[in-house]
Amino acid sequence: MRLIDIDTAAALLRDGGVVAFPTETVYGLGADASNPRAIKKVFTAKGRPHDHPLIVHLATHTPLSLWAQNIPATAHALAHAFWPGPLTLILQRHPSVNDWVTGGQDTVALRVPNHPLTQALLSAFGGGLVGPSANRFGQISPTTAAHVLHEAMETIDGVIDGGACTVGIESTIVDLSGSQPTLLRPGHIRADEIEALLGTPLQSPHQHSPRAPGMLAKHYAPHTPILLVEKDLIDTLVRSLTHQGQRVGVLAREALSPFINNIVWLSAGLTPNVYASKLYSNLRYLDEAHCDVLIVESLPLENDWAAPRDRLARAAANERL
Ligand code: TXA
Ligand code: MG
Repeated sequence: MRLIDIDTAAALLRDGGVVAFPTETVYGLGADASNPRAIKKVFTAKGRPHDHPLIVHLATHTPLSLWAQNIPATAHALAHAFWPGPLTLILQRHPSVNDWVTGGQDTVALRVPNHPLTQALLSAFGGGLVGPSANRFGQISPTTAAHVLHEAMETIDGVIDGGACTVGIESTIVDLSGSQPTLLRPGHIRADEIEALLGTPLQSPHQHSPRAPGMLAKHYAPHTPILLVEKDLIDTLVRSLTHQGQRVGVLAREALSPFINNIVWLSAGLTPNVYASKLYSNLRYLDEAHCDVLIVESLPLENDWAAPRDRLARAAANERL
């Protein structure tokens, strides 16, 4: 796998290749959304089940009617307010959209990313690109080109290096294909911002609603066991575990206990946006620090922490205290 420029990437994509590209959220694994053979390579590289639907990434000003039909006015309103940006809209699919993109569902996920290199790539390529996060299925999403290279996925033709992603967690997903707008995945664009614009509350997904790997309980998971712990309990727990000879990694919002041996302590940031922008690289770092256990401070219950809280809960699923 090699680092490539935009023109090389666009040529490879037109040829049915697979290219990892930066976005403002996380790195995506790009392929021509109109080419089933190219999309198949993306599933193979990720080791992802074939019936999981993919997001189509579009250049700014691409008419939504090329990809969707029966588009509600709410879709145009959200697109106008938040695109380019970290928001994905689920709409009724246009008949020309292939089953490899939609996982055979009658809806399609669309997003106009806000990153100069992604937009340059989409313009040079001239069509829609599928772009699941550029990690192996179930692993932590990459937020740097180095993370993508570290995944060592075969069948990738190149990586565009766009630096560290500024948002750092995947886009907010809103389903507008049914009668009620539904929040499928929280993200940097908060539910209350969307609700304010729509003038209606967002519903939560039904249990049997569309297949969405990001919605599986255990996802984005490091290999080291994670314990989610209230701030006030961290110090005692760290002291007790290190006393038993365990090597402990800690992800807390502030630096708390620098004077304990045998710990790796990361201060993760005090605001939700800073915290989210570094969350995946922090988890990767700690996962590679050869710890027996990772202690992660549980996050506040306020709305503006909803997205990083959601990702942490998934990372810690099965291992919560
Ligand atoms: O920020 C992002 O959205 C990143 C960057 C690269 O753009 N992409 C990303 O893709 O997170 P992925 O494939 O890792 O997650 C896409 C999510 C999945 O949970 C998938 O099931 C859901 O979107 N999705 C895609 N199409 C859908 C559809 N038609 N209906 C419901 N959910 C859908
Ligand atoms: Mg993903």
